[in-house]
Amino acid sequence: MKGLPMMDLHPANEASSDRSDSRVSSVEEKTAALRKLASDLSLAEIRERRRIADDLHDNLAQYLALIRMKLSEFQGNTVFCGYESDLVEIQDLLDKAIRYTRHLTMAISPPILYQLGLTPALDWLAGEYSRRYDLAIRVKAGNRRYMIDEDMRGLIYRFVRELLLNAIKHAHAHTVDVFIRTHGDRIEVTVTDDGIGFDPGAIDSNRDTGFGLFSIRERLTHLGGDLQLSTCPGKGSTIMFRCPVHREITP
Ligand SMILES: Nc1ncnc2c1ncn2[C@@H]1O[C@H](COP(=O)(O)OP(=O)(O)OP(=O)(O)O)[C@@H](O)[C@H]1O
Ligand SMILES: [Mg+2]
Repeated sequence: MKGLPMMDLHPANEASSDRSDSRVSSVEEKTAALRKLASDLSLAEIRERRRIADDLHDNLAQYLALIRMKLSEFQGNTVFCGYESDLVEIQDLLDKAIRYTRHLTMAISPPILYQLGLTPALDWLAGEYSRRYDLAIRVKAGNRRYMIDEDMRGLIYRFVRELLLNAIKHAHAHTVDVFIRTHGDRIEVTVTDDGIGFDPGAIDSNRDTGFGLFSIRERLTHLGGDLQLSTCPGKGSTIMFRCPVHREITP
């Protein structure tokens, strides 16, 4: 062992550990920057969707309703005698266009989310999905007297919608319960289904699964929140997330 360059090994080790430390911190910085980018992009998308939905509601929907009103004035008018069935057909088509515009507005960004708040919007969504997919979705709010800033409302609404769609698509659930409450400046949302459950470990180890849960978790991490899965095959699932929100108590 004599003559081994012991003294030389330390600086080399230190240098390589410094290099790997700086690599780790650079990876962490890049990951944080990517999380911020993803979060900014989804906020930009939510705002743009809201702008489009407001535009549809304030313009197209109003014009269609006015045309419908004007058209009904022609009914019984002698000038249009003989065209009654055409008028009825046009009214039917207009009714379809009005219903479709309303549906499209709600699907893009439900105005109720910004006019009335998160719980009424989730109540509406639960009603829609319950009817469309034939299951029971119940929404309960622990304390209704809260207001969350608009960006956060948009994000949380989308998180819950993703969890509901998962319960519908994957769990084959009969019942889903959504429970919302706030603790101080944090919101806590729990979505419980009575479906087939799953192995949460399989999601982390298999990146071929979708992006829904991954993307919720990443966005929550960026916002200082977290997501917890409590599930196992055959036992249903409870998915809970918490997130700081700018909260104002309504009078
Ligand atoms: N409530 C649930 N019940 C049963 N399995 C679930 C549930 N939620 C998620 N999973 C399982 O976890 C996987 C990952 O869910 P995730 O939302 O990340 O992706 P996805 O729904 O498959 O695709 P995407 O959300 O990108 O459309 C699903 O493919 C499914 O196997
Ligand atoms: Mg999904």
